[in-house]
Amino acid sequence: MRRGSIVALVGIALIAGGVATAVAVVPTWLPERASREAGRIDFVIWFVIAICIFIFAIVAAVLIYSLLRFRVQEDDFEDGPPIHGNTGLEITWTIIPFVLVTAIAIVSAIVLSRNDAQGADALRVNVTAQQFEFTFNYPDAKNVTSPVLRLPKGRSVELYMRSLDVIHSVFVPEFGQKEDIVPGLVTQLHITPTRVGTFPLECTELCGLGHSLMRTQAIVMEPAAFDSWLKQQEKSASPPPSSGGSTTSTTPSSSAGLTVFNQNGCAACHTLTAANAKGTVGPDLDKLVSYARQAKQPLTAFVHESIVDPGAYVQPGYPNGVMPKKFGTLLTKSQLDALVAFLVQSAQKSGNK
Ligand code: CUA
Repeated sequence: MRRGSIVALVGIALIAGGVATAVAVVPTWLPERASREAGRIDFVIWFVIAICIFIFAIVAAVLIYSLLRFRVQEDDFEDGPPIHGNTGLEITWTIIPFVLVTAIAIVSAIVLSRNDAQGADALRVNVTAQQFEFTFNYPDAKNVTSPVLRLPKGRSVELYMRSLDVIHSVFVPEFGQKEDIVPGLVTQLHITPTRVGTFPLECTELCGLGHSLMRTQAIVMEPAAFDSWLKQQEKSASPPPSSGGSTTSTTPSSSAGLTVFNQNGCAACHTLTAANAKGTVGPDLDKLVSYARQAKQPLTAFVHESIVDPGAYVQPGYPNGVMPKKFGTLLTKSQLDALVAFLVQSAQKSGNK
């Protein structure tokens, strides 16, 4: 091989590799990471990308060089020389991919096993998925439940995930991992948050009409702030919520009802002006007065039944079996009463307009 050819090949390879590296590195392809596991996953991604760029540069160099150098002349109608294999070349192009693929497999296996390894003093969170919301439960803290996943920074967290209906999947891009939640199984996910912040948490398995609305947040807090949040929740979880809320200008009972409405993710599916909710999957709660009339029931009884036993009367035009059935058991009696009172009050107000 002439020296000039080698220089040309190496030159083309460097240019192709440089362009590919720029495309990989310059745009921000990945979100800024917020967990230790995501950092390891990124390492695998960049390891594979580096190998890909290396191979791409070689292939591009040989291809471009051959196109330019061995192009046939216009009046050349000869066949090329017959070639029957090249043992050395064939062994080389078998061994190199074998080594690379094995290396990727080993690195991936190490990262997977380290990401699955549970840290000491792990915080357990039970995750319940259903059409169309996630509920997060802290069993070591008097079963505090939250519609938002709150985590302390720096501590190993273990999610135990169950589905009440169909397959869902939980994904926080900043945490890097994604895990399916399958009915009949308890799937697990380990997270060690490394950065305080609020990140989107979304369902990434098409699970029905409200799939695109099945999203909430993961909030990573400083450990001290997390502990005081949990204490606060424990306090308000054991006795029924007091009606002394002063956060809104409405009457105490409707403010408690609004809190229940917001904490249970009702806004994901329902419209309700009083709660500034704009969901469109389920019935429009501003129209409860007319729905109750169509169901031929008194308003309060109708609202109560629709929460506890959603299938009893389904407003025409809306899907059956989408509203979760759990609220009858999940909500305490005072929470349920507050919610019903709030809905009745808001519906009457918007009905009078
Ligand atoms: Cu749950 Cu999509």
